[in-house]
Amino acid sequence: MINVDTVSALLSQKGHVYDSFSQEQGQSGFVIFTHLKENENLKYAIKVFDIDDGSKIRVSESKIQECQNEAFAMKKLNHKNVVEYHSDYQIQLFYFIQMKKCESSLYIWSKQNEEVIPNEQFYSIAKQILDGLKFIHDQGWILRDLKPQNILINYTDSKIKIRLCDFGAATCYPKLDDVKSTAFYGSLLFTPPEVIFSLLQGKENVKQTQQGDIWAFGICLSVIGKAQLNQMDYNNNNWQVPTSPLLTPEAQIFVNYILEQDPQLRPKIEQIRSKLDSLFSQCQNNTQLQLNASSGSFSRISQPFCQGIFDKPFIQYSFKEIATPLNQYFNNCIQEDMKFQINEENFGSFSDNIWELKMLPWLCFYGQAFVQL
Ligand SMILES: Nc1ncnc2c1ncn2[C@@H]1O[C@H](COP(=O)(O)OP(=O)(O)OP(=O)(O)O)[C@@H](O)[C@H]1O
Ligand SMILES: [Mg+2]
Repeated sequence: MINVDTVSALLSQKGHVYDSFSQEQGQSGFVIFTHLKENENLKYAIKVFDIDDGSKIRVSESKIQECQNEAFAMKKLNHKNVVEYHSDYQIQLFYFIQMKKCESSLYIWSKQNEEVIPNEQFYSIAKQILDGLKFIHDQGWILRDLKPQNILINYTDSKIKIRLCDFGAATCYPKLDDVKSTAFYGSLLFTPPEVIFSLLQGKENVKQTQQGDIWAFGICLSVIGKAQLNQMDYNNNNWQVPTSPLLTPEAQIFVNYILEQDPQLRPKIEQIRSKLDSLFSQCQNNTQLQLNASSGSFSRISQPFCQGIFDKPFIQYSFKEIATPLNQYFNNCIQEDMKFQINEENFGSFSDNIWELKMLPWLCFYGQAFVQL
């Protein structure tokens, strides 16, 4: 057990003043909050590890290695939705990973929340977690311990900003096909069926893949919607996760879409992203369109990089200019009713204002199609 007084005294050598310690403590680390003596606005969260080899005088090289691996992951994974690494260092028999402090965690936030999560907020939370996770996955990392306790939050203009933390269980593979079976890491409730099956078969080593992180992401969203998740219940119930009373129907559809029992069939991040966008199109401020009644054209607002696209009436666009990106986008849509194809015949109706109005929700995706090109 780490002694707060001892650690605070060591950190004061580095100019830190102890504030408090985190109420949420995991297995290996211990997180304390500090500010700098010279500037009280600089607030840090410092993960402290006891690296004593048991002798009380020597350090364990393997423990140091583990701490450095975790710090390395944090340093590498520099992204707006990942916790901000500051530095890592050893003082005597302790190792420290210093990060910028976040205000709270999704776990604490959801414990305090009693209200149905509005679609806009759900969309924003899910999108930010996905963006962080996609970045982490794109660099070849697997988190293995994604859960609300490891999803930190800040509030900016009363909006939740997400930062993923805790790389204690994270691992990196240059080639993801090579993922090896290892000792199990993580929390059972967030563990995907394929890994639970292996554990139930008594296997000591299990294969934890990025598809496992995707499952954990789905469970995180169920949990923040206050689903009554009891491990045994849902294992025995063919992995049917109970509905979450604090999720809207759209959010619930989204969660059910992610929580596919078979890891091969479980959607990939890109698919999940487009499902999210299609279910919550009204929440995307980057696809707001306004109708210019006099010219009968739509123009995009709030996204400077798209300015110009909708400036002229639709009839002035060539078939190719509109149909190619739109069809490509519709084609990739998972939702069946989005599988619309524009052809030379129906394209003519672009000159019809009423038809344009009916198309308004689709035109939101239309903007998206341009952004993606
Ligand atoms: N940068 C931070 N800002 C605010 N709180 C943090 C920060 N980093 C961690 N915390 C808090 O401390 C808790 C524990 O941190 P973390 O999850 O990294 O360690 P752990 O769970 O003890 O680690 P491990 O799973 O490796 O044993 C988090 O759940 C979070 O509440
Ligand atoms: Mg943790």
